[in-house]
Amino acid sequence: MCGIIGAVAQRNIVNILLEGLRLLEYRGYDSAGLAVINHNNNLQYLRKVGKVNTLVEAVKQYSLSGETGIAHTRWATHGNPTESNAHPHISNNIIIVHNGIIENYQLLRDILRQRGYSFLSETDTEVIAHLIHWEQCQKNNLLTQVIQRVIPQLHGTYSIVIMDNLNPSRLVAARSGSPLIIGRGEEANFFASDQRALLPVTRRFIFLEEGDIAEITNKTICIWNNIGKIVERAEIVYQIKTDMKDIDKSPYCHYMQKEIYEQPLAIKNTIEKHLCSGLITMAELGPDIDILLRQVQHVQIIACGTSYHSAMVSRYWLEALAKLPCDIEIASEFRYRKSIVRSGSLLITLSQSGETADTLAALRLTKNMGYLGSLTICNVACSTLVRESDFVLITNAGTEISVASTKSFTTQLTLLLMFVIYIARIRGINKLSEKQIVHALQKLPSCIEQILLLDQAIKHLAEVFINKEHALFLGRGTLYPIAMEGALKLKEISYIHAEAYAAGELKHGPLALINPGMPVIVIVSNNELLDKLKSNIEEVRTRGGQLYIFAEKNITFTKSKEMKVIFLPNIEPLLAPIYYAVPMQMLAYHIALIKGTDVDQPRNLAKSVTV
Ligand code: G6P
Repeated sequence: MCGIIGAVAQRNIVNILLEGLRLLEYRGYDSAGLAVINHNNNLQYLRKVGKVNTLVEAVKQYSLSGETGIAHTRWATHGNPTESNAHPHISNNIIIVHNGIIENYQLLRDILRQRGYSFLSETDTEVIAHLIHWEQCQKNNLLTQVIQRVIPQLHGTYSIVIMDNLNPSRLVAARSGSPLIIGRGEEANFFASDQRALLPVTRRFIFLEEGDIAEITNKTICIWNNIGKIVERAEIVYQIKTDMKDIDKSPYCHYMQKEIYEQPLAIKNTIEKHLCSGLITMAELGPDIDILLRQVQHVQIIACGTSYHSAMVSRYWLEALAKLPCDIEIASEFRYRKSIVRSGSLLITLSQSGETADTLAALRLTKNMGYLGSLTICNVACSTLVRESDFVLITNAGTEISVASTKSFTTQLTLLLMFVIYIARIRGINKLSEKQIVHALQKLPSCIEQILLLDQAIKHLAEVFINKEHALFLGRGTLYPIAMEGALKLKEISYIHAEAYAAGELKHGPLALINPGMPVIVIVSNNELLDKLKSNIEEVRTRGGQLYIFAEKNITFTKSKEMKVIFLPNIEPLLAPIYYAVPMQMLAYHIALIKGTDVDQPRNLAKSVTV
């Protein structure tokens, strides 16, 4: 989604802004822009539709330079992706960039029109620029004080960075609902929506809190809280291994491909971090966690997108292994529903980014509802979800840049399974042999390496999809969510319409879609549902559907020309959902390559959905 970077320095900051925008590209966007002011108060700005590279070329052509500046990648919400809707937006001397949505922008637009302002864009952002300008004209005090008067008039979620051409040696920012950080540099300070944008210039970060307003100059940083009091916020010196090398995708062609191939190592790291003397440890959750876990009688999981598919799988595990009733819900539904908290319920949020607006809103909503506590399983240690949850488990997937989640999904599943086994032990459920499961988990990375060796076979299979417009994915049990994940991956990056069904539901509708030529991808594991799934396969075959089956090599099928089977090495059934996620990712990746789509930044999608 939208990305922000701002800088104040004594040197030209244009390249810092452009490099920052490049590092924010992974979030997904459709246009980009930048504005800079130099020592002579000369404002220059450029906005371009499309990739940051287009903006970079334009900046070179017009030789932009300045010591104070703001830049933005826009993911359209209000108004099409056009140059005039791209940020920054300007109202006289006020120049702003904005992430988020101003819900009452129509009303404000009408009021501002009556005050004589005209609008050059369809965005909600331009409203903020005019509002700041109007308030400044009413009482020309410090820009931070002007912003304090503007904030109560804005309804919605936002982070904004403002530059004032009348006072160009400073930038002012405000945060409410969307993440915003300050980066402390040498003779320079910065704002950004994501610390990644600032990695080339600093590792020292201050995370703004809800309602904060901040002002930076090249030497000073000052923060006011939501009641206008000057506050100190902790400075975090970033130690995480995220480095420029994480951002380098060579020798791979795409980040998604790199991240698929990183899975054996990422899963290994996740497992090792949570093992102690051959048993699972959840030391990360603090010394009193066992007391809390013994009280848990129910688990409520909330997530979006791919993380929701992890939630689906973990419900099977929690109920079967830990004997805990579990409900799961998409965050955007949960937050608008009058839900009832079951007694002894633990809330779990799942998120790769830790910034998904709906998941965060759901967490905040539940704060006083009576849950035993909130646990988040997340891949970004400094994210808002992590900061606002009572308990945190970090997946050790490393930086994930491709919009389509891959390694953050499989590490999320791995950690969830380990958590379920731990909770089962704490609750005194001895039916499962933890050591045996740990042993199987330790072999999982090498099993996934075996799948990666099937790249050519999967690539070959992908060729069939070149002219397909639809695909159906089938699975049962814990592999039903993986069928859903396979369908999601395919539609996200290849734009082929894909649906997933629990195979037992075939007769209740989707069988009507089967005709000769309809591709049906079936995930088959050697579990208690195998015979039932084989019957479903027959139902598709007798109607002429083209079957593409992913199955373990010890499973036999009646051969037929409508059926192509990709055999995989055998896997412990409990781990099958983690394992089968990988060929689904590889299939989607190869189909997208053949279709020539933008694999890492699929159209209209964002890595971190902050609105
Ligand atoms: C976006 C991403 C997906 C992700 C979903 C939920 O749609 O493109 O890959 O699954 O958000 O994100 P989260 O960060 O909460 O897991």
